[in-house]
Parts: sequence; C-alpha cells; structure tokens
Amino acid sequence: MLTSLAYLGFRSPNFAQWAELGPDVLGCMRVPDGEDGAVRLRIDDAEWRLAIHPGEEDEVAYLGWAVESERDLPEYAARLAAAGIEVQQGSAELAEARSVDQLIWFIDPWGFRHELAWGQYVDPGTFRPGRPLTGFVTGEQGLGHAVLILPDAAAGHEFFTEVLGFRLSDKIARPGGGYSRFYHCNGRHHSLALAEVPGSVGLNHIMLQVPDIDDVGTTYDLCVERGVPIRKTLGRHTNDQMISFYLTTPSSFHIEYGYGAIEVDESWVPATYRRPSTWGHKLTDEPTAKSPGILRRHPQPTAG
Ligand SMILES: [Fe+2]
Repeated sequence: MLTSLAYLGFRSPNFAQWAELGPDVLGCMRVPDGEDGAVRLRIDDAEWRLAIHPGEEDEVAYLGWAVESERDLPEYAARLAAAGIEVQQGSAELAEARSVDQLIWFIDPWGFRHELAWGQYVDPGTFRPGRPLTGFVTGEQGLGHAVLILPDAAAGHEFFTEVLGFRLSDKIARPGGGYSRFYHCNGRHHSLALAEVPGSVGLNHIMLQVPDIDDVGTTYDLCVERGVPIRKTLGRHTNDQMISFYLTTPSSFHIEYGYGAIEVDESWVPATYRRPSTWGHKLTDEPTAKSPGILRRHPQPTAG
C-alpha cells in the first residue's frame, strides 16, 4: 500500500532563493545540492524531503509517495497498467538521485509525475533545523500534504481512490460550486487534496506541520520581518482543525505552515463542510495573495 507523501520536487527559475527561505524562515535543514544544483531540504531524518530544481518556469517536477513493501511496486505497476497508465521502472541512478532504494514512476492523466518509492534513506538522529524550531511532524504521516488543482475532481477521485488507494477524508464546498476533496493514506488527515478548477491543472500549496504553536508564530514573524509574502492570515480549518497561515514561495505555489491537525483512523467517516475555515485564513492585500499557485491550462504538455 501507499503509505505517505515521501518527497516533492519542483522546478523554478527562483530555485536559488530557497537556499535562504528553507533554513532561515521555514526552519528546514539544507543539505548538499542535487547534481543539477537543486536546493534540497530536510525536515526530519530522511535524507531530504523537498528539492527545488533549476527550471525555466515554475512547475511540479514530481510527487514521491512511499509504499509499504518492495512487493507493492510490481503490484502498483500492474494496477496502473490495467488502468491504461504507462509505468516506468526507475533506474539505479534515479533511485540514487531521489535517495530511495527503488522506485517506479508514471505520468497521471493530468500530467503530474508520480513516483512510488520504497526504502527512503534515513540518517537517524541527524536532523538539525535551520534555525531555532521544535521540528516538524513527520514519521508515519510523511512530509505533509499537497493540494493539486484538477479540471474534473470526480475523475480525480476515481483515479486516486480506485487506482492509487487513497481514502476520502472529507469534502468542502467551493465558492461557486463543486468541492475540494481531501484524502488520507495514513493518520494525517490529508496527504493529498484535489481542488477543481475547470480547464486547469496545477498545485495550490503544500503543507508543513510543526509540533508547537510557537513554531507557527516565529515563522509568521520571520515572514513579516524578511518580506516573505503572507497569502492568508492565521486561521483554523474546519476539516483537519489545523491552525495555520499561508506564505507565498518564490516559485508561485504557497506553503501552509500549521499546527494541531486532528488525525484519522480506520473508523473515520467522511463529512462535508460549507466553508474551509472556522476563523481566519483571510486573503491579505499582498500582490501575490490572489495567485492560485502553479496553474496551467489543461491539457498541458507532458511533464518530464
Ligand atoms: Fe492545506
């Protein structure tokens, strides 16, 4: 089974700015760059979790999902092939570049590259945050969550639940119609969410969770002091009850930085909500606040 969001890769012309943003503001640990100069960041004892590669435009390069056992890789390859998806075996060089033992990868119907990986390399006891910070909530919950934008969330629901095995956590009605849908694959309330925007594909935000509300506060202060744009003010979500704020990265997408989300288990029953937040999460008047994140017309050229 697919067990967690293990790593994420992006391409961006502003990749170099992450060398400061990552450790100095977000509290990540910077590790040696990738071979192409990618800035790579740790948030726990996994060798890295976030990579921002040089690129001509802001885009999602890959989403890395951990699987439970080596046997899951051929099983997923067969399941994906049966769904009409072309699956590639990751080479030893690719596995090394991703700091995993082995992987397969494929392009989903919307152009996102997903990598299913087993055996992410970890170096126990060596994580040091880039600045004073308690740390990040990871472990069996993985790195956090990613919110993808799809033109047709019903088709997305079918693919991500039936083919990849995600389970629905809940739905939130979107202004103007439709729903955002939230999915879990471990105790984290959602590792994946799908937001429907007709005619578009993209990534709205990723989420990093910290274990202390003061870590959210110090990060908020550092964003203000260093001129990192705040997209949404502090608020609490209706569904996962996380207290968080949203900052805009130099690579178009946003980071939700939060604390205190509830966890789900096998007995979880999905709910629906009419609004995303109990309080707060107001769009600021920053010029970037209305940016939907990374957004492309669909169909888009296949990402490589
Ligand atoms: Fe989020």
